Amino acid sequence: MAVPTQERSESGRVRIFDTTLRDGEQSPGISLNRQEKVEIAHQLGRLGVDIIEAGFPIASPGDFESVQAIAREVQGPVICGLARTGVGDIDAAWNAVKDSERPRIHTFISTSDIHIEHQLRTTREDVKGQARAAVAHARSLCDDVEFSPMDATRSELEFTAEVIAIALEEGAGTINVPDTVGYSMPDEYAEMFRELTRLVPGLEQVTTSVHCHDDLGVAVANSFAGLQAGCRQVECAVNGLGERAGNASLEEIVMLLRVREAAHGLWTDVNTEEIARTSRLVSRLTGYQVQPNKAVVGRNAFAHESGIHQDGVLKERTTYEIMDATTIGLQQNSIVLGKHSGRHALRKALEELGFEVDGAALNTAFKRFKDVADKKKTVTALDLEAIVSDEMRQSTSAFELVSFAIDAGSERSPFAQASVRLPSGETGEGSFTGDGPVEAFFSALNAATGHEGRLKEYHVSAVTAGRDALAEVTVLVELDGALAQGQGVSPDTMEASGRAYLRALTSARADSPVAEAEHHAQEASKTPAP
Ligand code: KIV
Ligand code: ZN
Repeated sequence: MAVPTQERSESGRVRIFDTTLRDGEQSPGISLNRQEKVEIAHQLGRLGVDIIEAGFPIASPGDFESVQAIAREVQGPVICGLARTGVGDIDAAWNAVKDSERPRIHTFISTSDIHIEHQLRTTREDVKGQARAAVAHARSLCDDVEFSPMDATRSELEFTAEVIAIALEEGAGTINVPDTVGYSMPDEYAEMFRELTRLVPGLEQVTTSVHCHDDLGVAVANSFAGLQAGCRQVECAVNGLGERAGNASLEEIVMLLRVREAAHGLWTDVNTEEIARTSRLVSRLTGYQVQPNKAVVGRNAFAHESGIHQDGVLKERTTYEIMDATTIGLQQNSIVLGKHSGRHALRKALEELGFEVDGAALNTAFKRFKDVADKKKTVTALDLEAIVSDEMRQSTSAFELVSFAIDAGSERSPFAQASVRLPSGETGEGSFTGDGPVEAFFSALNAATGHEGRLKEYHVSAVTAGRDALAEVTVLVELDGALAQGQGVSPDTMEASGRAYLRALTSARADSPVAEAEHHAQEASKTPAP
């Protein structure tokens, strides 16, 4: 990482609070399982974020277990759990994070009249009482407590100030003031912090934090305005994931601080060379593709189309580039393996990529690598990353694609047959004649698994350039009202599609009580009475 050209002052240090696994995970269709969340948390650790908001432990036993696993396994960052003001929420958050070296409880309550009247159906006095009790209880359990007055930017400022003062009296160490519905404008948001600092004695002694949503496309601009007004923690999510239009994008705010440090004097401890890999991992595991022209991590962020720009960049990169692609970890495709590469070379390459794979996992990775290397001339770092993430997800999929055949001849409708290993260990078979090969294949998979999934979205992309590139397929599937994404990687586009579909079915089934109950009943009816 390049050394900054100026002396850094401690007062310019900005803490990065990553909420990909909490606010980000609330994006529709995202349903990460425990292993995937832990994998993302490890990568956030490598990226060097200061705080990981790992989830909302009261929400479900699965959420609780994921936060607990992250708290136990991921060292370095503070691990934080979200809680409303109730004792049950706070106890669940504490129990989930308490095994971390550095636990934090984040508790919140709305301060806007819209929320107080229509959602909480209570009074301002009650909100003050709940905030006091929540922070006091959280502090009785944990030294590090954060408090947020939700919907602050639509709240009466004097009331928000009163509630914040109460949270401070009870010992909150971080005050986060969210623009929950993405309504604020940069000047307004900065002014709100200046006013709060004037109205709340002691606010300057704790860390103040920004949390902005992107409904009007200014989440990063608002976050930056808040930092300029003195806040020193920014809450953000990888690839800008989050409720509705998302949260401020981590990579954008971090690179804004990095690239323009000389102008504003603010800096973070993020290892920016891990940004591209983190973005790819999150995109892969959530199934949320990054738009090609997205700032910093979009496929075109460093591409030059016009002749004039290409000419300039060829002569001198800085003519049209304000940051070097290597700063965010792009173009580090040094690893190239081929079909003659052995187990040792693969292990070394995986280690370089941050995957510690040994024993049975190395054997599985090696087998998968050989399958790919047989079909593809060279296997690059990007390919390996895609294959290994794909293989890791396989272990959490309830269904395994055993074999399939698709007859897509032009004379008649495409016909597909599929054979799938079911959770019971048995093999399910299915076949279907459809209007197109993908429809026929997915309907055959429905028949083989006994589920009626409905395809909502289907995307194919290539992991690298070239005709022999690995295909990466993303699907969005609905099952009994539950929506879930799935991804699959393979040199064969249809195989990647099948893997993606079965993973989406796995997640949707876990989120759909109807489907799960029906499935259990079916399984039970097959089991002979003792
Ligand atoms: O947007 C919001 O207000 C939140 C709070 C829970 C901090 O996500
Ligand atoms: Zn939020």
